Amino acid sequence: MEYRELYKKAEEMLDRSYAPFSNFRVGAALLAKNGQVFTGVNVENSSLGGTICAERTAMVKAISEGVREFEAIAIASSGGEAWPCGICRQFMKEFCDDDFVIIAGVDIDSIRTYTLPELLPEGFRL
Ligand code: THU
Repeated sequence: MEYRELYKKAEEMLDRSYAPFSNFRVGAALLAKNGQVFTGVNVENSSLGGTICAERTAMVKAISEGVREFEAIAIASSGGEAWPCGICRQFMKEFCDDDFVIIAGVDIDSIRTYTLPELLPEGFRL
């Protein structure tokens, strides 16, 4: 799947984001190696630490459906470019290889990509 198409799926998720506290909506679309796409949104909570990011929502959906091999993730937000937070980068490190691609941008015409080691050099894994 083309990166632009994946980004579009992330963008389409923004309406489903639950972000009443930050008003920062995030949508993610995770492409598995088998071609399946798992989407996600950020889901905030009154107990703010209970919030889960869009990227981890998508990954948890995939993993709980038995899919653990991933190729790329696209991230769109209501507030400009959104690159994964530190916890999400570490979460990706658990399941993704060094060629895993992260796609983000202000809009579909300005997407940029990084590999996971570019965003998380010397990442930790047991
Ligand atoms: N957030 C994500 O969902 N993904 C990111 O990459 C950055 C942050 C969410 C968490 C919270 O709901 C809101 O954005 C503001 O931090």
